[in-house]
Amino acid sequence: MHIGLLTGGGDAPGLNAVIRSITIRGKKNDHRITGFLRGWKGVIENDSIDLDIDRVRDIHMEGGTILLSSRTNPFKVEKGLEGIKKTFIDAKLDCLVAMGGEDTLGVASRLNAEGLSVIGVPKTIDNDLNATDFTFGFDTAVNYVMKALDMLHTTARSHERIIVVEIMGRHAGWMALHGGIAGGAHVILIPEVEFNTDEVCELLKKRYSEGNRYAIVAVAEGAIDPKLQRHVMHSAEKDSFGHVQLGTGIGIGEVLKNEIADRTDLETRHVVLGHVQRGGSPTAFDRVLGTRLGVKAVEMAEQGLFGKMAALRGTEIIAVDIKEAIGTLKTIPIEQYEAAKLFFG
Ligand code: F6P
Repeated sequence: MHIGLLTGGGDAPGLNAVIRSITIRGKKNDHRITGFLRGWKGVIENDSIDLDIDRVRDIHMEGGTILLSSRTNPFKVEKGLEGIKKTFIDAKLDCLVAMGGEDTLGVASRLNAEGLSVIGVPKTIDNDLNATDFTFGFDTAVNYVMKALDMLHTTARSHERIIVVEIMGRHAGWMALHGGIAGGAHVILIPEVEFNTDEVCELLKKRYSEGNRYAIVAVAEGAIDPKLQRHVMHSAEKDSFGHVQLGTGIGIGEVLKNEIADRTDLETRHVVLGHVQRGGSPTAFDRVLGTRLGVKAVEMAEQGLFGKMAALRGTEIIAVDIKEAIGTLKTIPIEQYEAAKLFFG
């Protein structure tokens, strides 16, 4: 078989593990493996590299993606769909494996409906994809958030300060919630539940009055206090999937820091963790998950399971319909957030 691969959207630690795994599993069964560059852009333009075992040796230890990534949406590019169909024919592709989040897999599903043989592999540090228990990249990112909060504790305590930490997560607060719990945040704010800054300030003042004279506030970049929204200023630019760029301009971290400082008179600082959360070498969990998903993706290609996505369910890797993963995002169940609130303050 001739199997093509692409990595789309924001990169995630573990992508290289999938690329390596598909290549090694594929080559050992005499398949031809082609890596398209820069996500859907490379498929539209038929811009690719041949992958063999030597090229992917040990890359599972590295973050990022050797295939490069972009947020290209072929349905927003002139003649994008035409380009992809032409590449399928010119390259004599039997199957294309698209590694990505909601946007990339949404395109995969539409292409499948157009009669193209596409298989999905779920990826995002945000962990907000349905139909899979976890996405690779999340574990690495959340461990980074935990370490950052650990480190901020000591300086916040020494200076008797509040530190507001802005964490990635536009629509779902998995990284803020899990990183915040693990890293001992005293307040965690997520996009799923609107917050009230006055209540946050009361909680912080109470904490100080009890003699705990420092605090860490973990806030997801998409968390909302409706009364503060007018102060949050993101870049006007939208990507080709229509997302505003959070983490640019004045984000909720900075706005909340200013409000807390004004309303409590307590010394307050803010930190935006930003893209460092997506970088670096993957954890063992993400390397192994990526490896298992890659093996499954080749098996699925051999079985003709197109329009399906390899997914983690419990401890098993199974094939599910890509459609199950897209349309709605996997957000935090309210009970999980309520449980986390027990540890606030
Ligand atoms: O890929 C997910 C993500 O890291 C989000 O958490 C974040 O909001 C976004 O990507 C940032 O995108 P970009 O790298 O395009 O600025």
